[in-house]
Amino acid sequence: MEAELDYIRSYPPEPGSLIPLLQRTQERFGYLPKEALEEIARYLGIPLSKVYGVATFYAQFRFEPLGKYVVKICHGTACHVNGSVNISQAIREELGIEEGQTSEDGLVTLERVACLGCCSLAPVIMVNEKVFGKLTPEKVRKLIRKLREGKLDV
Ligand code: FES
Repeated sequence: MEAELDYIRSYPPEPGSLIPLLQRTQERFGYLPKEALEEIARYLGIPLSKVYGVATFYAQFRFEPLGKYVVKICHGTACHVNGSVNISQAIREELGIEEGQTSEDGLVTLERVACLGCCSLAPVIMVNEKVFGKLTPEKVRKLIRKLREGKLDV
């Protein structure tokens, strides 16, 4: 990983570089690897706990790689009224993970979102770039099973 962290040195070694470096790191790896955070702390001369403190403050940063499939569960008003709570529960049961987590095999990351912009199809989820709407717990369970079997076209 060391060579991959060379970009860190292109920033001024001062505390003000912390957030831009966190953003650049996430762009590069898709998340914030521990090694990168350690290197940033060393380079900027600030404690690692401070780096984590800042990174955890912002919801945009993640500490685990994303799964191959990212399932966004909409909890916006239209979806909520149409049963997103039950949709979420069915998905979480099928996968054995909570929103915000990635399955151990690295296949699926679950995310909670506010509105996917297709409220007329509520309740809605998105798998990678594809939207699935008018869901029921039953339909979504089938969909997740297909996804795990690699049979979902997304
Ligand atoms: S509220 Fe779910 S798509 Fe808008």
